[in-house]
Amino acid sequence: MKNFITIEGCDGVGKTWQTNLLKQYCLKNGYDVVFTREPGGSEIAEKIRNIILDVKNQGMSDLCEAFLYASARIQHLHDIVKPALEQGKVVFCDRFIHSSYAYQGFGRGINLDTVVHLNELAIGEYTPQYVIFLDLSPEEAFKRKGGADKNDRMENVDFSFHQRVYDGYKHFANANPDTFVCIDASGTVEETHNKIVAALKQKGIL
Ligand SMILES: Nc1ncnc2c1ncn2[C@@H]1O[C@H](COP(=O)(O)OP(=O)(O)O)[C@@H](O)[C@H]1O
Ligand SMILES: [Mg+2]
Repeated sequence: MKNFITIEGCDGVGKTWQTNLLKQYCLKNGYDVVFTREPGGSEIAEKIRNIILDVKNQGMSDLCEAFLYASARIQHLHDIVKPALEQGKVVFCDRFIHSSYAYQGFGRGINLDTVVHLNELAIGEYTPQYVIFLDLSPEEAFKRKGGADKNDRMENVDFSFHQRVYDGYKHFANANPDTFVCIDASGTVEETHNKIVAALKQKGIL
């Protein structure tokens, strides 16, 4: 979907930081943009987010988790993304379907076709035009944030899980070179920001 841009990568790689910097850049330069995030991003979807991430929910089945992400996504698309795109805005979303493919498919080991099919049902035609993939290994990314957030159920899965997530992202980046914009995220915050802005200019988004 034209003007729908997602930001993806492992936990701690700098997605939220970069999204905020990009937001400041866009506001300063007068772009008509909306910044949002998943899971959550709207009132009902944020409630689903709280269920997904709650460390008390250790007994949640992998498939339940996958459906909750898809449910939150449907609501968030309905409340935030679709209306903004219809108004001609550019929408940037911190995480989207490729998080589900990487975390629920590669990480949890749910059959990838199942996860893809579920998400295709959830999003319809709203596939991202471009995916900004912040590329950094989970070892390096976790170092940045000083280890896993104890209040986040997903971040506290064992480390091999996060390695599989990273492998999943790389798989999709290689399989979709026209959609994925791979950004080396190993540099400073400013360096990565400049790379993102340059890539978005080159793609004609900014
Ligand atoms: N390029 C960078 N170099 C060093 N530290 C960074 C960089 N980008 C982000 N960080 C730090 O890493 C941590 C995780 O960043 P965050 O944006 O929350 O990651 P994510 O949203 O991808 O999980 C934060 O403490 C942030 O300040
Ligand atoms: Mg974040």
